[in-house]
Amino acid sequence: MYVCNCNGVRQREVDSAIAAGAVNPRQVLAHHGHEPCCGQCMPEIAACIIGARRANPRTEEALVAAE
Ligand code: FES
Repeated sequence: MYVCNCNGVRQREVDSAIAAGAVNPRQVLAHHGHEPCCGQCMPEIAACIIGARRANPRTEEALVAAE
């Protein structure tokens, strides 16, 4: 299932971008060479980032350090 229909970005690609250090939806798309188009996926990608922070405190520390 696609998270970003405009760019064909799937959940696993969102997850890999977050694991690589993406801290906002634009960075998640940019990690895979894309830019936002319609922007409809931004809230869902942001929710994934928040979920990753809650699920993995070490990710939270890394993201805070990167901001
Ligand atoms: S669905 Fe992601 S930019 Fe349109």
